[in-house]
Amino acid sequence: MADAHPSSDVVVEVITEGELAARIGELGQAISQDYAGRQPVLVAVLTGALWFVADLARAISIPVEVDFLALNRFGEGGRIRLAMDTAISLAGRDVILVEDIADTGLSLTALHRLLLEREPASLATAALLDKVSRRLVDVPLEYRGFEVGDEFLLGYGLDWGGRYRNLRSIWSVLDLGAFAADPEALARAGDNLLS
Ligand code: IMP
Ligand code: MG
Repeated sequence: MADAHPSSDVVVEVITEGELAARIGELGQAISQDYAGRQPVLVAVLTGALWFVADLARAISIPVEVDFLALNRFGEGGRIRLAMDTAISLAGRDVILVEDIADTGLSLTALHRLLLEREPASLATAALLDKVSRRLVDVPLEYRGFEVGDEFLLGYGLDWGGRYRNLRSIWSVLDLGAFAADPEALARAGDNLLS
């Protein structure tokens, strides 16, 4: 049975739990094949990629390590600074950078540059979501979950002022003004919501 997509005038579920699980399973299989005989490190960008990396790592059937880094962002220019570094040394390792969403591509570009300075054996990127139409700088995405439109998304790691990351599926905000005026609209739209 196809998953239903609950919705209201303000929000609509765009990617269900089942669709996330199926696609992440495929990405895990692809990584397991591509990295057979090696032991890659998944480097997830906090906080948004936490949920994705937890499921992706469990969809991978070869030995894999998981580590994290965190960023500070400054202004519109996309300038970033490392707020927290990985615990594992990445020199000589097969690194897979794990992000929740590729939007303008500025964060991923800066992260790429930063990680290449660590002289990994290889570097690839896995992004769960790809807002292709918003891209300002081209970034290679070796593993990509879903292409999405230019819309504001919430859930499964994506937040609105720190909230809603713990939703089990991904929702699109159809009317940002109405949503900002009534953030509880989302809680009323679905019955699979935690917050
Ligand atoms: P970029 O540097 O423009 O590619 O920004 C990527 C970051 O912007 C992501 O890691 C998210 O934290 C944030 N972001 C982009 N689009 C959305 C969205 O629709 N909802 C919530 N956060 C978003
Ligand atoms: Mg965010």
